[in-house]
Amino acid sequence: MTDIFSLKGKIAVVLGGAGGIGVGLAKGLGRAGATVIVSDLNQESLDKVAAAIAEESGVETCGLTADLTSEESVESLVNAVVEKFGTVDIMVNASGLNLKRPALEYPVEDWQKMFDINVRGVMIACKYFARVMKEKKKGKIINLSSVREIRGYTGGNSAYVATKAAVGMFSKTLALELAEFNINVNCIGPALIITPGTIHIKNDPELAKKYAALIPMGRLGEPEDLVGTCVFLASSASDFMSGQTLFVDGGLTAK
Ligand SMILES: NC(=O)c1ccc[n+]([C@@H]2O[C@H](COP(=O)([O-])OP(=O)(O)OC[C@H]3O[C@@H](n4cnc5c(N)ncnc54)[C@H](OP(=O)(O)O)[C@@H]3O)[C@@H](O)[C@H]2O)c1
Repeated sequence: MTDIFSLKGKIAVVLGGAGGIGVGLAKGLGRAGATVIVSDLNQESLDKVAAAIAEESGVETCGLTADLTSEESVESLVNAVVEKFGTVDIMVNASGLNLKRPALEYPVEDWQKMFDINVRGVMIACKYFARVMKEKKKGKIINLSSVREIRGYTGGNSAYVATKAAVGMFSKTLALELAEFNINVNCIGPALIITPGTIHIKNDPELAKKYAALIPMGRLGEPEDLVGTCVFLASSASDFMSGQTLFVDGGLTAK
């Protein structure tokens, strides 16, 4: 039987590829057989991730820096990938930022920065990577949203939830515009995932218990929990799915 989840022969780019979730997804795509290009702001971090992917899966891999808030930078990244690997089949955008501030004191400069990275960065990446996919009438775009796309949250998260709602609706509309070119655009919407940025929660037993209690399945998520969904959305198994956010959240959004 053909493995409908196999990514052998596919060229995958993971943006935010040196971040907590990005590393996990890049490794997962490598295990599924894809050539994996990781992109982020820091070359040294990317080199480490690429070395780890190569060691784990033996697939071809490399790290290329790009600033997703700059059209020129993203265009150069796309050109470099196409020059080196011939095309792009899969783009995963796992970049992001969360500046937590009380809503009534939210500095507009910080609000702007949140939208620059979380929304404008997603738009710019989709715009340039999708142009390559449009040429060959095939492609998979996977944006990292959050359960906060559809659920409000306290704790200074007003900008974060607004950016994730924007990513969700942008992705749906992009899915409609790109459907005729056979490009699938979907989002992964995780609940809290333990990464270097959230490891303090796991390391504090009281806090970990508090957060786990909010999740019907009673535990915190790890980047590995998102790999199956990412490989599914990157593979031919999801060829008739577009414009969706798949919430990978231990049941949280079912409540
Ligand atoms: N962790 C969670 O609990 C969770 C839950 C739901 C959804 N998400 C979403 O999943 C995605 C990944 O989250 P994460 O926890 O892995 O975050 P992370 O560890 O902070 O990774 C995000 C990465 O994006 C990079 N980045 C930021 N600005 C950039 C820019 N202008 N150009 C290129 N790269 C840039 C960061 O680089 P620097 O570190 O160098 O700035 C970082 O490596 C985000 O969209 C996040 O909102 C996370």
